[in-house]
Formats: sequence, C-alpha cells, structure tokens
Amino acid sequence: MTANRHIVPVAMTGTGMAVPPRVVTNDDLSKIMDTSDEWIRQRTGIEERRHVDEGVTPSDLALEASQKALAAAGLKPTDIDFILVATLSPEQFFPGTCSFLQAKLGLDTTPGLDIRAQCSGFVYGLEVGQALIASGQYKRILLVGVEIQSVALDMTDRGRDTAVLFGDAAGAVILEPAKNPEFGIRRVITRLEGKHTDKLGVVYPSAVGGRWIKEEHLKTAGHNPYMDGRFVFKNAVSRMPEVINEVLKDQNLGVADIDLWLFHQANLRINEYISLGMKIPPEKIYNNIHKYGNTSAATIPTLLDECVRAGRVKPGDKIMMTAFGAGFTWGAALVVWGA
Ligand code: UT7
Repeated sequence: MTANRHIVPVAMTGTGMAVPPRVVTNDDLSKIMDTSDEWIRQRTGIEERRHVDEGVTPSDLALEASQKALAAAGLKPTDIDFILVATLSPEQFFPGTCSFLQAKLGLDTTPGLDIRAQCSGFVYGLEVGQALIASGQYKRILLVGVEIQSVALDMTDRGRDTAVLFGDAAGAVILEPAKNPEFGIRRVITRLEGKHTDKLGVVYPSAVGGRWIKEEHLKTAGHNPYMDGRFVFKNAVSRMPEVINEVLKDQNLGVADIDLWLFHQANLRINEYISLGMKIPPEKIYNNIHKYGNTSAATIPTLLDECVRAGRVKPGDKIMMTAFGAGFTWGAALVVWGA
C-alpha cells in the first residue's frame, strides 16, 4: 500500500448497533398494500425489516448503538470529545439528532454535528471524523449512522415502491488515533452530484412551496420518499465501482487484496451486479439486507458491527466499504482493521 495520505492514522476502536425488536416481514406488508413476498425478495433480496414502536426516536436507537460501541472500546461517554451523527431521518427538522443523543449520553458541552449525506452518510462521517482527529483538535470521536425511516413511509398501495425497502437501525463506531500506524482508515473518497436531487428524496417540510408543509403536501405524499428506482439503480451500479477503483488505485491495491467487502444495503441485486463485474468472491462480501432492509446511513456500521462480533475480521484485514444514496452522494473507504 502507498503511504497513508492522512498524517494521523485513525482506527475504529469499538463498534455497536441497535435494531428495534419488531420484525416486519414481506408477508406482513402484503396484508396492508398491493405487494408480495415474491416481488420484494426477487427484486431486492429483502425478507424482513425492523420498525420501531411508537415513541421510539432516532436518538434512542443511536444511544443503544453508542453505548455498545463505547463499551467495546472500553470508554465512557465523557471520554468522547466530538460526536458525528449521519442520518436522513432526523429526530426533528432542527435541532440535529446529535443534540438529542448528546443529552441522552449525559454529556454537558461536548460538541457535535449531523451529517446529511443520506445513504453515504457513514462514509462521509469517516472522512470528517478522520480529518477532525488529523487536525489534532479531537482524540475520540463517536460516529453514528442512525435511521428511523418507517415513520416516513406511505404504507398504502401508493407508497409500495419505497415502503417495502426501508428499515430502522443504528450503528456506531469510536474513532481514535491508531497506536499501530499500519492500522486504521487508509483512504476515504466521497463524491456528490447535486443535479439528481429529483430522483430520490423527501420534499416536505421544506422551504419549497412557500410553507414548511401544507395540507395539500400531505395529500400528494410530498412528505413521503420519492424515488426513480431504475435511474438510481443504474447510477449506483456504476458510481460505486468507480469510486472503489479510485481508492484501490490510490492504495496500489487490487480487488484480490481486499479481505471483506461491505456494500451499502439498498438492493442485493446491486451488490451482486457489482461483485460479478469486479470479480469479487461472494464469500468476501457480507450483507444484512435480508434481515433489515435498506437502513440508509446505518447500513455500513451495522454490517461492520455484525462482522466484528462474529469474529469475521482480524487485525490487518483490509475492509472496503462503499455506499450510494440520495443527493446523489457516494463514496468508498478502505480500512485496515486493528488499532
Ligand atoms: O439507498 C438509496 C439508493 N437506492 C437504491 O439504490 C435503489 C435502486 N433501485 C432499486 O433497487 C430498484 O429500482 C427497486 C427495487 C426500487 C425497484 O425494482 P425495479 O425492478 O426497478 O422495479 P420498477 O420500479 O421498474 O417497477 C416494476 C413494476 C412496476 O409495475 P409495472 O409498471 O411494471 O406494471 C411497479 O409498479 O413493479 C411494480 N412495483 C411493485 N410491485 C409489487 C413497484 N413496487 C412494488 C411492490 N410490490 N412493492
């Protein structure tokens, strides 16, 4: 590998995740909208997802994931000196989810901010977290990807094209300067193409239309997600390999050098298409979309936590993480496991 472009190698010293206990199967959805287990499974690979019960908020899930990540790192909340929360489904329109999480962690004035890069939010968070540590200003960062998307879905026939896809979850990592300079985040590359905002998003509440939200917006489902699925699919299968290849080239690595691939979990077909094209052995890819659906910014940290806890990663393993989402935003990160 080439020398790390970043001066301070930053390691992940703890991981954690949380999903709500309520399982919603494809059959459950087919009872309330015109869909079927066969359609969802064949098109996406999703078998079930988790939905929160009323009253549970993003900061609740984020707190559980954070506490597990802190415990894994042997830290307490007061050891954290900056918090990053990646989300597209915030606790409130403002203030950011980070404020709610910070208070629930029992912290006094620890700073933090929300990252609004949708499904690529966690990869963006790695880039920001690494830069904050490299700046020398912060030593221990809590980075969380959290989504409660079930509450924004249109659970009728009208919303079936997106309602079957998304789920609720949180994943967290602790970022610290690596003790061993061979370990840690080696390279993150992020990209954004703002001209495609009309292909995937949620409009209201917003400054569009003269009011945050009007009665007519509710009637036209402007507060529910919209997506041009085929267009997004085509971009996802070209942009993720593109940025992965940029990271590999930057690090003088080939596909065969990577030990574990963690792809964004929007559609199993997307990941299969890319892995076939790039000749990635299926046994080196870990997916959890069948259990949780698309959990947007929470996909990569939940994949990572499951792999870590299952003993699937060992020090020195090279992990490639990649994501694509609304914005359009996308990115890839190469991490050498270990601290
Ligand atoms: O995480 C952010 C990034 N997101 C993505 O990367 C998602 C990318 N897109 C996709 O994964 C796929 O486009 C979807 C899974 C969303 C949709 O699959 P598709 O094969 O592109 O289906 P389609 O949208 O072209 O719809 C095919 C048919 C349509 O019916 P007609 O027009 O052929 O009669 C839809 O109305 O399937 C219909 N349909 C459904 N049928 C049963 C749409 N949603 C459903 C549904 N159940 N839930």
